Amino acid sequence: MADLAKLQIGENSYEFPLIKGSENEVAIDIKTLRVTSKGVITIDPGYKNTGACKSSITFLDGEKGILRYRGYSIEDLAEKAQFLEVAFLLIFGELPTKDQLTQFHEDIKDNAIVDDDVRKIIDAFPKSAHPMGILSSLTSALTAFNPSSVNVDSEEEMYKAIVKIMGKLPVLVAWVMRKVQGLPLNYGSKSLGYVENLMTMMFAKPNEEYTVNSIVKDALDKLFILHADHEQNCSTSTVRIVGSSHAGLFASLSSGISALWGPLHGGANQAVLEMLEAIKEDDGDTKKYMAKAKDKNDSFRLMGFGHRVYKNFDPRAKIIKLAADQVLNDLGISDPILDIAKALEQEALNDPYFVERKLYPNVDFYSGIIYRAMGIPVEMFTVMFALGRLPGWIAQWREMRLGKEPIGRPRQIYVGQTYRKFKNISQR
Ligand code: SDX
Repeated sequence: MADLAKLQIGENSYEFPLIKGSENEVAIDIKTLRVTSKGVITIDPGYKNTGACKSSITFLDGEKGILRYRGYSIEDLAEKAQFLEVAFLLIFGELPTKDQLTQFHEDIKDNAIVDDDVRKIIDAFPKSAHPMGILSSLTSALTAFNPSSVNVDSEEEMYKAIVKIMGKLPVLVAWVMRKVQGLPLNYGSKSLGYVENLMTMMFAKPNEEYTVNSIVKDALDKLFILHADHEQNCSTSTVRIVGSSHAGLFASLSSGISALWGPLHGGANQAVLEMLEAIKEDDGDTKKYMAKAKDKNDSFRLMGFGHRVYKNFDPRAKIIKLAADQVLNDLGISDPILDIAKALEQEALNDPYFVERKLYPNVDFYSGIIYRAMGIPVEMFTVMFALGRLPGWIAQWREMRLGKEPIGRPRQIYVGQTYRKFKNISQR
């Protein structure tokens, strides 16, 4: 392939260098376009064909259904690694040695206390508040209690901010759930593992001994790995662009949590369960919902299906589907919702509308079934997604800051009114 792209605009032709990635992806480097063409830009709503950056963190091939973190396959990591190992890998680029992992966890545990005044912020929310709104607010509020986490230019300062949020976000996640449930806010113990401690803070009742269920712990650890990063998705791109203004890490993460909340993105895992519940209430009439999803006059979409990048099975969905069967079986739960999900999947995979558009189950289609089996309330599902995605957001923010990337500021094509003289109100 030639190393140049040629562009003809009217009488003029321009050449732009091609960039090739380590997986042979090719991009046209158009950073000189506007100047050399005296004002011409590109436009690409939703950035379906536009790369925002070069990144070494996650590679995915949507056509082949491949997902790798720093070169390791998601299948290997989900089966052989633990979440904190994968977090270290994503953020620092290599799988940790035993000592590095121990030190990383110790530093996280040393920062796992949240200023008690945060409880007053939580108290101010109504019980009806959506957990994602509370979590986004609290994450941004952490900046006020940790001002040194804002201007982090050195790797050392960045590391301190990273272990702070890795320690504090699980506390906020647990406290958000207990706020909504009307339960006292507590801490777990430094003697517990990362996921065990989260579970203890989430589920331990004030008047009884709590024992971590290892099936749930292992399934949650695996779900966090599967959600940990996904290159330049909506919320990660948000974290990168907010961070590009040199807003602090916590403020950037808060914006990512808000972006993830949307039902077209991370909010889909809650929307999937609500859809499956509605189908169950409708005598399991999956055909009715398939018809709604295909009806252009109906805004309804089959939640948990389709993906901007995957035009094949989302590899995470395959793993989660198997895990859902395993967890429900191990917990001795038979959930009709899982049966409805499988029936819906089979119908969609054989329906021309979905086949032609290459719409397959995505990461959100089965995850909610596992969260539900764990006793996690449906409005907390996207909060669990956010905690899983935390190391990916951190890794992408750190890569952007260490790479000294410019502030993100897209252009536009103006299509509004051309110049017109002002009219006094008496003349309107
Ligand atoms: C996540 O980007 C990531 O990496 C995200 C994520 C991550 O890990 O960060 O993977 C997590 O967000 C997963 C996606 C969760 N969202 C949902 O499950 C919501 C339902 N899915 C859709 O809304 C949709 O598929 C998107 C938003 C996921 C993708 O939308 P695109 O790429 O903009 O696709 P599109 O809207 O252009 O759809 C193409 C066609 C359209 O039909 P036509 O105009 O060609 O006739 O497919 C149709 C769409 O109407 N379509 C659907 C559909 N998804 C797409 N029709 C019915 N049901 C659906 N779910």
